[in-house]
Amino acid sequence: MTKIVNSWNDFDPLKHVIVGRADHSCIPPEEPATSEKVPIDSPMRGSWGPRPLETVEKANAQLDNLVKILEERGVKVDRPTPLQWNAPVNTPDFRTESMMTAMPPRDVLLTIGNEIVEAAMSFRCRYWEYLAYRPLLERYFDEDPEFLWSQAPRPRLSDASYKHNYYDEQISLEERLERTAAKDFVTTEKEILFDAADVLRLGKDLFIQHGLTTNRKAMEWFKRRYPDLRVHAVNFPGDPYPIHIDATFVPLRPGLIINNPHRRLPDDQRAVFEKNGWEIVDAAQPAHTEPPPLCYSSVWLSMNCLVLDHKTVIVEGSEVHQQEQMDKLGMNVIPIDFRDAYPFGGGLHCATADVNREGDCEEYFTDTAFGDVTLV
Ligand code: ALA
Repeated sequence: MTKIVNSWNDFDPLKHVIVGRADHSCIPPEEPATSEKVPIDSPMRGSWGPRPLETVEKANAQLDNLVKILEERGVKVDRPTPLQWNAPVNTPDFRTESMMTAMPPRDVLLTIGNEIVEAAMSFRCRYWEYLAYRPLLERYFDEDPEFLWSQAPRPRLSDASYKHNYYDEQISLEERLERTAAKDFVTTEKEILFDAADVLRLGKDLFIQHGLTTNRKAMEWFKRRYPDLRVHAVNFPGDPYPIHIDATFVPLRPGLIINNPHRRLPDDQRAVFEKNGWEIVDAAQPAHTEPPPLCYSSVWLSMNCLVLDHKTVIVEGSEVHQQEQMDKLGMNVIPIDFRDAYPFGGGLHCATADVNREGDCEEYFTDTAFGDVTLV
């Protein structure tokens, strides 16, 4: 019997992973979810269409190099089959003129034990993105009799799923931060919406970021769908664009998490980790003051690392401060150049999705520790 899919966290020894591909990637046109996400000073505002071919080639070269490094270390790697993303998405509820990419599989696929869930994503341009992974999931299903293949309820993404005029061009950074602190996000609670990259898996506990891409209804869905797991909402008030937890709160091994110092976990939630013997340390400053051109993410992709096991981590090659900190924290660092891939959907963690890590569902927190912090 072949066991293919098994992963309960982001730090146990990595055996099998999916690495994205940049082919045919597009900058999507504005839509209710993305217009709120793209920073107002970004050159991506107002422009859309296929990304320049030379940038696609450079990103693919770095993605291929990541594959090579992983394979040299004995990690099995699978790749998606990109669609021709430069085509409209037309449903009974909406139309948008372009799709996006198959570069960040982390946003689309959530692995929980022997299950992979196709996420209920809130961007209209990402409506069909899961199709790029279907050839892989079909194969896992055929070969691994224990693999559970799931899809979260497909959102309709009609106008009722978004607050309209949620941000305007004039909104200040302070107002954005106030909205994050007040948990006032662009998505409504009409339907279940989440990106897989908003979910931090720590064995029996799922920490889910409530932000621009994941709503409370999703957390209620997780709670009902996984009665044996504990679901916790987390919110990082310092993030003006709270999208995905993996440049904010990143576990390196059992008991150790790096936290973006601009997006600190609130004290009451932090106390839960500390009570259970976890250390949360401020991540090192990024080496760059700006993300690369045409990039959606922040400079904090510096901390978006791929942990290979409790002592080994891949960190972006130019992020010398993060590398140095990892070293001091007792990790062996493998630096690899990856900034050319950032614009396509993020860093080393974003660009991958777990298929198999050693280990089982561990309980890292006592049942009673969460008190009021537990959302559901
Ligand atoms: N949205 C995350 C960041 O840019 C990945 O920091």
